[in-house]
Amino acid sequence: MPTTAESTRDRSAVRSLLRLWPFVRPVRARLLTAAFVAIVASCVGLVIPLVLKWMVDGPVADRDPAGVWLGALYLLLLGLAEALLFGLRRWLVARPLSHVEAEMRAGLYRHLQRLPVAFHDRWASGQLLSRGTTDLMLLRMFLAFPLTFLLVNGVTIVVGVVIMLVQDWQLGLVVLGPALPVMVTCAVFEKKYSEVARLAQDQVGDLTTVVEESVLGIRIIKGFGRHRSQARAFRELARTLRGTELRKARLLAAIWAVIVTLPELAIGAALVVGAVQVADGQLSAGTLVAFLSTALALRWPVESIGFLLAMSQEAATATERYFEVMDAEVEEPGISGDPASVSRGGVRSPASRGASPTLGFARAGGPPSPTRAAPGGTSQAVQALGEARMPAAQPDGGLRFEGVRFRYPDAPPGSPPLLDRVDLHVRPGESMALVGATGSGKTTLTALVPRLHEVTSGRITLDGDDITAIPREELRALVAVAFEEPTLFSASVGDNVLMGAGDGAGTDELERALAVAQADFVHALPQGTATQVGEQGLSLSGGQRQRIALARAVVGRPRFLVLDDPLSALDVHTEAAVEAALRQVLADTTALIVAHRPSTVLLADRVALLSGGRIAAVGTHQELLRTNAEYAHLMSGHDEHAEHEEGDER
Ligand SMILES: Nc1ncnc2c1ncn2[C@@H]1O[C@H](COP(=O)(O)OP(=O)(O)OP(=O)(O)O)[C@@H](O)[C@H]1O
Ligand SMILES: [Mg+2]
Repeated sequence: MPTTAESTRDRSAVRSLLRLWPFVRPVRARLLTAAFVAIVASCVGLVIPLVLKWMVDGPVADRDPAGVWLGALYLLLLGLAEALLFGLRRWLVARPLSHVEAEMRAGLYRHLQRLPVAFHDRWASGQLLSRGTTDLMLLRMFLAFPLTFLLVNGVTIVVGVVIMLVQDWQLGLVVLGPALPVMVTCAVFEKKYSEVARLAQDQVGDLTTVVEESVLGIRIIKGFGRHRSQARAFRELARTLRGTELRKARLLAAIWAVIVTLPELAIGAALVVGAVQVADGQLSAGTLVAFLSTALALRWPVESIGFLLAMSQEAATATERYFEVMDAEVEEPGISGDPASVSRGGVRSPASRGASPTLGFARAGGPPSPTRAAPGGTSQAVQALGEARMPAAQPDGGLRFEGVRFRYPDAPPGSPPLLDRVDLHVRPGESMALVGATGSGKTTLTALVPRLHEVTSGRITLDGDDITAIPREELRALVAVAFEEPTLFSASVGDNVLMGAGDGAGTDELERALAVAQADFVHALPQGTATQVGEQGLSLSGGQRQRIALARAVVGRPRFLVLDDPLSALDVHTEAAVEAALRQVLADTTALIVAHRPSTVLLADRVALLSGGRIAAVGTHQELLRTNAEYAHLMSGHDEHAEHEEGDER
C-alpha cells in the first residue's frame, strides 16, 4: 500500500503547493483582493504607534486635554478600520475557498471512479477517504490563513522594521538581532515538521481504514467475538497516531519557544537602551513609545510564523497525498467518437441499448413475461431482423479469447501467470459454462471481458472486434456482469436494478428483469421496488441480493452476459425457476457463466474446463463427464439434489 511516496519526499513544500494553482486560479482575484485588504488592515495597525508618538510628544507633553481626546478619537477610528478590514477579508475568502474545496473533492471522486480496478485493489479505502476529507480540509485552511497571512505578516514585518529603523536605527538593529537565529530555526523546523506531518496524515488514513473495515465487518467481528482484539488494534493505531501528533506538538513548542523568547529579549534590550537614550536626552519619549509600540505590534506577526509554517507544511503534505491519487493513471476511454465503431456489425452504442430486437425478452407486443414467452411465432420477423444485424454468420462472431495471458500486476515477481494462453470461443447466442477448481482464475477471466483488468497478452474479441478497440463505455454497455459478491448500493431496489440499463429504461424493463431473476419478493417489500436497501444491501438475504444483482445484469438486454456463479446462494427450487427464465434470455445472448454446481452448468450449451491457467477441455456436460476425469471429479463433489435434478433434465 503506497502510503508514503518516496518519490515526492524530496519535493519542496512550495513546489507541492504550486500544484494547487489550477484549482485556485478561478478565485485568484478574490484571494488577491483579500490579501490586499489584509495588508492594508495590518498597516493601519502600524499607524497606531505613530499616533501615540504624536500624542506623547505633542498634547501629553503640552498638557493639552483637547489634543489627547483628538488622539484618542484617531486611535479609535484606526482600530475600527483595522477590525472592519479584517472582517471584509474573511468575508471575501469564505465562499470562494469552500468552492475550491468542493471542486477538489469532486475532482477526486470523479478520478476515483475512473481509476482501474487494479488501483483500487492496491489502495486501502481509508487512505482514499482521509485524502478526500481531512487532507482537503487542511488545504482549505491553508488557502484561508497561512497563504494570506504569510504574505500579510511578511509585509507587515518589513514595513514595521522600516518604521522602527526610521525612528531610531540603533534601537532598530537591537530589535533585529534575533532575526537570523529565528530564520535558521524556522528552516530546521520546516524540514523536521514535514516528515512528521506526512507520517501523521498517513496514520490517519490507516486509522480510517481500520474503522471502515470494522464497521463493514461488524457481523464477523461480533460473530467471532473479535471486538476486543479489534478494539486493541484500533487502540494501537490510535496510540501511534497520538505519538506522532505529540511529536508535532513538541516541534511546534520548540519553534514557538524560540520565536517568542528571542524577540521578547530583543524588545527588553531595546527598552533598556532606549530608556538610557531618553535619559541622556538623545531620544524623545514619544519616539521610544512609538518604537516600542511598533515592536510590540510586530510580535504577533512574528510569533504566528511558527504555526503558519506548520499549517503550510501540512497543506503541502496534503497536496502530495491528494495528487498521489490524482496522478494515478485512469482507464483511457478507448476510442470513443470513432463512428465506425458504432456501426460495426452488431456493436451498439450505449444510446441504442435496449432497442436491440435480438434478445430473448425484447419481443414485440405487450410486456410478456420472459418466463412464459416462447421464441418464434410473432417474433419471427423481429428475429429475422435481429439475425440480419447479428453477425451470427461470422466465423469469429461471439466472444472469443485468443491466447489470453494474465497475471495480476501485484502478483509476486517470478510467479507464473494466472491465466496462460486461454483459447476459448463462445459462439454467438451460445451460453458457455466455465468450470474450474476454486482459485483457478474463473472470476479473473470473467473480469477481463468488461476490461476491469487488462490482459497481459493475447486478445479478447466480441463479434470479431478486439475489446481494446471498443470504447470502454460502449464495451460495458455491451457486456453485462453479475459477480459472486452481489454488490448493492444505498438506493431503492428499482434503482439498483436499473443501474444495469440505459437512461431510457423504465418500469417495464424493471419488471421483466425482476421476473427473469425470480425476484418477485421485491413486490412484497414495504414499498415494493421503491424500498431502500441499506448500505451494501445488508437488509436483504444473500439469495435476495443475488437475484437483484442478476436482474441488474439482464435488465439492459445485453448482447453479452458474464455471470460469475450467479445462483450459488439460491435454494434449488428458486434456482430451477431462475434457470428456466434465464434460458429464455440466454437463447439469444452470448453468455459466459461461471458455475460450480451441475445444475448451473446445465443452463449452458457447452462447458469449458479451466485448469492450470488454460482451457483444458470444451464440450457438453455429458461429454466432459465421460471423457474428463478432472471435470467428473469437480462435478461429483456437489450436492446430491443437484445431481438428481440433473438426472431429471436428461
Ligand atoms: N486482485 C488480485 N491481486 C492478486 N491476486 C489475485 C487478485 N484477485 C485474485 N487473485 C488470485 O488469483 C487467483 C484466482 O482467483 P479467482 O478469483 O479468479 O479464482 P476463482 O476461480 O474465481 O475461484 P472461486 O471458484 O473460489 O471463485 C487466486 O489465487 C487469487 O489469490
Ligand atoms: Mg470466483
